[in-house]
Amino acid sequence: MTGIDLPNQESGHRGDSLPQSKGRGLLAHLPVGLHHMASVVKDQERTRQFFEDILGLPLVATWCERAFNSELGREIEYCHCFYGLADGSVLAFFQFAEDDVYEFCKSVPQPGRFEHFALKVDKATWEEIDARAAEAGLSRRHTNHGYCASLYLESPDKLKVEFVYDPEDVEAINAMRRADAHSEMRRWLQGDRRPNNHDRPKRPT
Ligand SMILES: [Fe+2]
Repeated sequence: MTGIDLPNQESGHRGDSLPQSKGRGLLAHLPVGLHHMASVVKDQERTRQFFEDILGLPLVATWCERAFNSELGREIEYCHCFYGLADGSVLAFFQFAEDDVYEFCKSVPQPGRFEHFALKVDKATWEEIDARAAEAGLSRRHTNHGYCASLYLESPDKLKVEFVYDPEDVEAINAMRRADAHSEMRRWLQGDRRPNNHDRPKRPT
C-alpha cells in the first residue's frame, strides 16, 4: 500500500509516451471498488482526532513499517493508519518518523510518490491486468505487503494507480490489526518504531 521501495519486481516501459495498446477490450470482472486511497500526514494523532473523534470513522489498523526509499537513498520509518468505510475499503495515511520525509513529499506535487489510489480486484483480474500492462509494455511494480498484494502502474499524468487483491486470511489479519490499531499508533508515536508487519516477505514475490 505504499509508495516506498519495497521488495518488488519492476519491469517494462519507461518514458513519456504510452506504448501502443493491443486492444484486449474491457475486463470481464471490473474492479469491485476502491480498496484504499492514501495520503501523507504530519501527525497521526491529529489525523485520528479529525477522522475518528470528530467525524466518527473508525481507526481499524496501524501498520508500523521500515523500508528503503530509493529517492532518499536511505531506510525510512513510517506509521500507516487506516480508517474503515462500510464496504471494507479504507482511507490510508502515512506519517514518517523524520520530518524531512514529509517535507520532501509535500514540497512539490508528486502524484506518483506516496499519494495514490487503489482499486480492489480478485486475484484472477489482478493477473489479467498485470498481463495487459506487460503486453502494452508499461512499467509495473509488484509488492507483496503480507496483508495484500499490489500491482502499481503509472498513468500518463504520473498518477500512481494500484490494483490490490487480499489474501485468503484477510479477515483474520483485519481482526488482529483492528484490536491493536490504537495501541500500535500510540506506541509508534511515542518513539517505539519497531515494525509490526511480520508477514511482509523479505524477498520479491
Ligand atoms: Fe496503496
